[in-house]
Amino acid sequence: MKSIIDIEKLDLYYESFHALKNVDLQVPEKQVTAFIGPSGCGKSTLLRTLNRMNDMIPGTRIEGKVNIGGKNIYGDEVEVESLRKQVGMVFQQPNPFPKSIYDNVAYGPRLHGVRSKSELDELVEQSLRQSALWDEVKDFLKKSALSLSGGQQQRLCIARALAVHPDILLMDEATSALDPVSTLKIEELVQELRSKYTIVMVTHNMHQAARVSGRTVFFLNGVIVEAADTEQLFSTPKDSRTEDYISGRFG
Ligand SMILES: Nc1ncnc2c1ncn2[C@@H]1O[C@H](COP(=O)(O)OP(=O)(O)OP(=O)(O)O)[C@@H](O)[C@H]1O
Ligand SMILES: [Mg+2]
Repeated sequence: MKSIIDIEKLDLYYESFHALKNVDLQVPEKQVTAFIGPSGCGKSTLLRTLNRMNDMIPGTRIEGKVNIGGKNIYGDEVEVESLRKQVGMVFQQPNPFPKSIYDNVAYGPRLHGVRSKSELDELVEQSLRQSALWDEVKDFLKKSALSLSGGQQQRLCIARALAVHPDILLMDEATSALDPVSTLKIEELVQELRSKYTIVMVTHNMHQAARVSGRTVFFLNGVIVEAADTEQLFSTPKDSRTEDYISGRFG
């Protein structure tokens, strides 16, 4: 297993609250890894450390290392802009910009200096195809992104993230605000994307984790209890706390 993310002895504090405790984790490249666990156990917090979104929360303090592609992303020389290009993120609520569909997808490439119209056109089409939205929107790319349905908006947000060619895509409960059909579309999309990207997804839905991911990480109170191949974690968990959680005894 070749890992792209290597977390060593990571502790994270919100002021005096110790939210992540001595976390060690390796995330394999070009696979889907699911984070599961009860509300408040630190899933989103760990996800946010992977592209330094926690930097924006005052009072946050980190100890330990987060290596991505062999480089400590909390090192002095790291530029957060380029880190976020490498590590894209999709959130629970679809959050397209109040701009056209085209401009949403072109936003990242433009920010990173792409000016040529033909190049932008190509990136927009390629990203919308990858996010399985192209056929639905190709005839009205100038329309406002806000006119799309929730599921379409979420696929647009995925296209926006893919347009800058990230290595890693983080998804924080990206389907929990969507209807079942849109959820299924995104799950299928994740299956298609996994050969090209490393995907880390937080989900409250254990069936979704079992359906979509190759690795699953179970959290409790800021600690990783168990990280294993998804099939193994759900069939023969090693820790009794994992077993209690996946069999629905708490959480
Ligand atoms: N900005 C913040 N300031 C202070 N404490 C926070 C902040 N964000 C999260 N926490 C606390 O850190 C702990 C972990 O929160 P986190 O959001 O990572 O949990 P989670 O596993 O994603 O939960 P959920 O499933 O409800 O989304 C919780 O106790 C939460 O209250
Ligand atoms: Mg969360």
